[in-house]
Amino acid sequence: MTKRALFILTVAITAMPAFANDLAGAKVIFRKRCTGCHTYGKGVKVGPDLRGVTERRQRFWLTSFIRSSSKVIQSGDPTAVTLFHQYKQERMPDWTDLSQEQIDAILDYFAADGPSQKEPDERHASTATAAEIEVGRQLFLGQARFASGGRMCITCHSVRTTGVARGGTLGPDLTRAYFKYQDKALTDFLKHPCSVMASARAAGAPLSPQESFDLKAFLARAAGLSIPAPGKGPVVTIATAQTAAAGGLR
Ligand code: HEC
Ligand code: HEC
Repeated sequence: MTKRALFILTVAITAMPAFANDLAGAKVIFRKRCTGCHTYGKGVKVGPDLRGVTERRQRFWLTSFIRSSSKVIQSGDPTAVTLFHQYKQERMPDWTDLSQEQIDAILDYFAADGPSQKEPDERHASTATAAEIEVGRQLFLGQARFASGGRMCITCHSVRTTGVARGGTLGPDLTRAYFKYQDKALTDFLKHPCSVMASARAAGAPLSPQESFDLKAFLARAAGLSIPAPGKGPVVTIATAQTAAAGGLR
């Protein structure tokens, strides 16, 4: 690569909004360059299982090892030498072209459960936070916008608990949709929501997994699923204690 091209590439990479791209990049690098020899939580392949690697090794060690395991082994580092003898059929290639940011992103990915990480929409609706339900409500009503620019659901659907006058009638009333489908099937449905909506969508961009989860959580709450609000526990306890105390005084 020429210096100029490298410069442009570097500028392009630094200009990208950091976090989401880093994670997406880390996933791609792992899949393309590492899974030939490593699993994450599925046991030894050609090299060690990488689950928990960020706990058993120091970050700086991992960074130098990924960039050039041959150098670290040659330097006589005891951990590296032991690994080398343990897995002697094949050597790990040096990945000198990976930037510090890319290696950091891969290590963050490993630390955050890597490939066993669930997409947000695979969570059960009962794990939703109050904030997620609220975002789902706003998306449904069109008070918040979909990243893909998709149409708000209220144009074609109503949900009786929104406190908003009737929604559109092109699609069915969704007040009970959560129980009609159940959690998993609703997740699948929301991956390709409504035939009408699909054809109306400009570029066919689907809901993001988080948007899909927020909507599912909102529909679950609307249908009456009890969702224990995380972090609200102590508040309830205090209220209950006060009620109990008040009851005791009477
Ligand atoms: C051709 C096979 C191969 C590929 C591809 C490969 N590795 Fe390895 N890796 C190994 C082997 C073998 C070892 C054990 C040390 C040695 O013999 O070099 C290892 C060791 C490691 C270790 C140390 C594990 C520990 O328990 O301390 C890490 C971290 C690692 N690899 C990360 C990666 C990453 C990240 C990628 C992708 C960018 C990758 N490896 C791609 C073969 C591979
Ligand atoms: C342009 C109108 C339109 C929009 C906008 C729309 N839908 Fe629909 N939706 C429909 C129609 C029509 C049906 C029934 C036929 C079908 O399933 O495609 C439907 C069906 C559904 C069903 C299945 C209901 C059942 O009882 O089987 C769900 C769930 C649903 N939509 C959710 C949503 C959500 C969530 C949104 C917002 C992201 C949305 N829809 C936006 C028109 C729409």
